[in-house]
Amino acid sequence: MLELLPPPPTDPLWDLTYEFGSDERAERLNLVLGVYRDQTGRTPVMAAVREAEIRLAERSESKEYRGLSGNAAFNRALLDLVLGTQGPSDRAAAVQTVAGSGALRLLADLICRTRPGTTVWISDPAYVNHRPILEAAGLEVRTFGWCDAEGGFDSAGVLRDLARARRDDVVLLQGCCHNPTGADPAPQDWAALAELAARDGWVPFIDLAYHGLGDGLEADLAATRLLAARVPEMLIAVSCSKNFGLYSDRTGCAIVLGASAQAVRHAETALQNAARTLYSMPPEHGAAVVTTILEDEGLRDLWRAELDAMRGRIEANRTDLTARLTALGWGAQARSLARQRGMFSMLPLTAQEMLLLRRQYAIYGTTAGRINIAGIAADRIPCLAQGIAGVLENR
Ligand SMILES: Cc1ncc(COP(=O)(O)O)c(C=O)c1O
Repeated sequence: MLELLPPPPTDPLWDLTYEFGSDERAERLNLVLGVYRDQTGRTPVMAAVREAEIRLAERSESKEYRGLSGNAAFNRALLDLVLGTQGPSDRAAAVQTVAGSGALRLLADLICRTRPGTTVWISDPAYVNHRPILEAAGLEVRTFGWCDAEGGFDSAGVLRDLARARRDDVVLLQGCCHNPTGADPAPQDWAALAELAARDGWVPFIDLAYHGLGDGLEADLAATRLLAARVPEMLIAVSCSKNFGLYSDRTGCAIVLGASAQAVRHAETALQNAARTLYSMPPEHGAAVVTTILEDEGLRDLWRAELDAMRGRIEANRTDLTARLTALGWGAQARSLARQRGMFSMLPLTAQEMLLLRRQYAIYGTTAGRINIAGIAADRIPCLAQGIAGVLENR
């Protein structure tokens, strides 16, 4: 049977990561995957997570099956975290998922079960897995622009493109720290998007993967809460991979907001049914860790402080890179970097130039120009700036 399988495409980001693994140059720098690294180049276990794990091990509760929605306390805690304790949780439900990717897929499934063939709009460029996940669930995908010529958020262009979205289409928006561009809407842009959704009747589908790593937790959640207050229906995919550092524990949830309690109950059951046929139930450990942190004031404060420190380091890296590129004479090219938010920055380099950066300077970013600015030790920023400047000088 397997002889019949034609060679399938491989994942370009993981291909680059494997290529990096076999690069023997000592100065090599891996900025491909969206993983936070500390000053020593490690992706640390957060102190709040470690303490929660100790408490859980001491309590050593049962590993019996959870319900189809996963850990109920986790789902409640994430509803409060995302929508706020004063938020519309009376018309919302959360289902624990296999991280943010699992939430995206379950929600895509829900859309398909509700109305097969629904059109989902995604940004161009988008997170590399958005289109594959949506198409795998059987949805139609259309795109809207995201950036202006300088790499900033293109407010007028996005509103113009999304004016073509029809009632009951779904529009997938990243709630903060847009991957891959780092270009985010300003608060007034979010207000305009919320108006458009309310006026035209399309359903916002928010992907939250980096809250806490842009302008701070509350600021990064403000757009999601604004939309939740403005529209009758909304879908939210939440990842705990980055902001709790739980990458391999696969922790997240799918949130649905509906116009009536009955619609929300039906959506929750449909999500459970979708999970049942895909993987049955999500893994417990990461959800138990997050719940332990969010339910304990001391641990929550510790987590918030660590998250703020991570955000500060990312911002310092970005500021330093911008300053160094400017000092090397590339101020115009560096200007867009300074405005970007979150773990990623989009370098103003072509695919050919990104290849040169890799071949000549052992600096690995994606072919489209994305680098993980959260993945560099501070003392490697000068090398990164030199490499980028070296490539720009070849123009
Ligand atoms: C925008 C966005 N959404 C979702 C995800 C999925 O994250 P995970 O499945 O690891 O929680 C990522 C991961 O990089 C992402 O960048």
